[in-house]
Amino acid sequence: MSTKLTHEQLLALLSDMSIEEKAGQLAQIPISACMEGVTEPTGPMAEMNLTPEQIALSGSVIAVRKIEAEDCAKVVRDITALQPHHIPPLVMKDVIHGHQTMFPIPLAIGSTFDEGVAEDMGRCGALEGAVSGTHVTFAPMVDVVRDPRWGRVMESPGESPLLCGRMGAAMVRGTRGDDIAAPDRLAACAKHFVGYGISQAGQDYAPIDVSRTELYNTYLPPFQACIDAGVDMMMPAFVGIDRVPCVCNEWLLKDILRDRMGFEGMVISDWDDPRQLINHGVAKDLREVSKLCLEAGLDMDMMSFAHLNCLADLVREGKVDEKKLDEACLHVLALKNSLGLFDNPVKNDSNAYQQEICGSESIRKAAWEAAVKSCVLLKNDGALPLRTGCKVALVGSHADEHAILGGWTLDADTESTKTLLDSFGEDERITLVSPEEADVILLATGENQSDTGEDCSKAHPSLTSEQMAELHSLNALGKPVVLLLFCGRPLIITDALPLCSAVLNVWFPGTEGANAIRALVMGDRNPSGHLSMTMPRALGQVPIHHDRLSSARPWVEGAVYVNRYKDESNFPLFPFGFGLSYTTFAMEASAEGNVVTVKVVNTGSVAGETVVQLYGRMRHGRLIRPDKRLLDWQRVSLASGESCQVRFTVTPDMLRMYDAQGKAVEPEGVCDIAVGQSSAAAYTLTVDM
Ligand code: BGC
Repeated sequence: MSTKLTHEQLLALLSDMSIEEKAGQLAQIPISACMEGVTEPTGPMAEMNLTPEQIALSGSVIAVRKIEAEDCAKVVRDITALQPHHIPPLVMKDVIHGHQTMFPIPLAIGSTFDEGVAEDMGRCGALEGAVSGTHVTFAPMVDVVRDPRWGRVMESPGESPLLCGRMGAAMVRGTRGDDIAAPDRLAACAKHFVGYGISQAGQDYAPIDVSRTELYNTYLPPFQACIDAGVDMMMPAFVGIDRVPCVCNEWLLKDILRDRMGFEGMVISDWDDPRQLINHGVAKDLREVSKLCLEAGLDMDMMSFAHLNCLADLVREGKVDEKKLDEACLHVLALKNSLGLFDNPVKNDSNAYQQEICGSESIRKAAWEAAVKSCVLLKNDGALPLRTGCKVALVGSHADEHAILGGWTLDADTESTKTLLDSFGEDERITLVSPEEADVILLATGENQSDTGEDCSKAHPSLTSEQMAELHSLNALGKPVVLLLFCGRPLIITDALPLCSAVLNVWFPGTEGANAIRALVMGDRNPSGHLSMTMPRALGQVPIHHDRLSSARPWVEGAVYVNRYKDESNFPLFPFGFGLSYTTFAMEASAEGNVVTVKVVNTGSVAGETVVQLYGRMRHGRLIRPDKRLLDWQRVSLASGESCQVRFTVTPDMLRMYDAQGKAVEPEGVCDIAVGQSSAAAYTLTVDM
């Protein structure tokens, strides 16, 4: 294991560095431009007018496409050799849901309600990333997401602050382990701090407006969970809080992130975000950008070169205090030290080893298990699982599609990803035939992979008119149609639902997706995913989520002047937490003191897993509260006829609220409790707080 510098040694190094060197450490440049050798900038680097000297001083490189370990190691060694104190650069990359072996998208990982799965995804992505030369990943994304129009919902574990926090923390643990210097680990970065998911009308890069109360109660907690799990880096969001862009928001980056939340790691901007202050008209030039961001608490500038071009001059001219520069630089050096880079800047420099590890059996197995657990069975009239010997038509845009991985698949080999037809074609229990000859039709359709992720906002998050026409014509054949729904967001399928005998929401399931879907469809495994985001009935309901704040005029059937639509139900098509199984579960809950005990029985004829969910609300309190919020959950696995007991302890932590000043308001009095398999579970119990 690599030797690390002491804090005193780090300070000594810092005090020996020139102002230019220190400013350089705060810059991130693209690795692609250094591939041909760092002394002769090529491509975009040449266009950016960066000099070889500036490249040599840069603290970090970012990779946005597939890179081999040997090329990556060369860039690291080249820069290290030229840097006056031989300080190696940090190599960073978006390892969002796996590296070469893709796991299901994070929204699907949220649907597993299984922290072990989230941890495995972090661990496998870190291993494949580390042997490919990466040091730091820009993950997890823990933006609480409530609007399916926003394409980036796919990158989040979902709409619940608790789910985002627990799954995010699990990803952090899996990614970084106990020691990020280990050869199979990466440093982790929580993003986007904070409120990016609130983008108005679901449009990427649109403004947001959020109250401080909502920040404290809904949007900050997942980041706190990541900090508590040891996250190394934080990325301010493209948006602004109180009209101050996050990247230069001193209140957010200092008062909240450092002082209140106790974050001690490094803060890196999002791509070119500092320079975008000029677009906002918040700063007039790059010099002002550099000063504003540094003074607000930003350490590293990703790709806008403000610090690299301007910061040293600003310090020399006395416009920026050198102490601020030192503070930021120390955060960068400390991360490098934690990664052991001063001792060993390259974790692997062998392409052969990279190839041996990436895509190996155990990693693919973990990706398969994640995909199995993440698919959500939304409807089943008995068409699933398929019977042995039946004739099956497998049709639709995604039947022979390799691109079932979802956004952020920089290193994945999409073309060699198994399609559904590849996988089902291997199954001797069924015969693939045309729809006319079939006993059952599997329609694999939905969004394209390229419709998910950044810059993928949609005004119509539903099936296209062509896809609906296909569904209608298949339905007209009078045979059961099973919809295998590919999506990076909850799609509005209200019109499609009655035309289908069964619907399996498969998200973008990753490298092992086709095999996992086959295992579920054939009944080798039982669906157990539960929705990580509410599925709306109509776009007009958006944003719709399980923990909406209460209304002073709550909806009552048939009443007027209550919280309702004239032309649509208040209820979603499928609530948060919903998911069916091939078996059924009965639950009986009771409360004693603050402990809720749930007896769960598998009442069906096959083994299965479900997610026992605990929801609650304080009956009284001065602040307006959600009518219902997820407080805890447990996944259980039961054989047919088997039962088990699940125990939840209801604690003040689950129900504490914060006012606009961030002051805690302790829960007091009666807490209503609902237990069930979705957020539609009714309140049946109370606990005294
Ligand atoms: C995204 C980030 C990502 C970064 C680096 C940005 O456009 O918003 O989430 O980590 O690019 O690729």
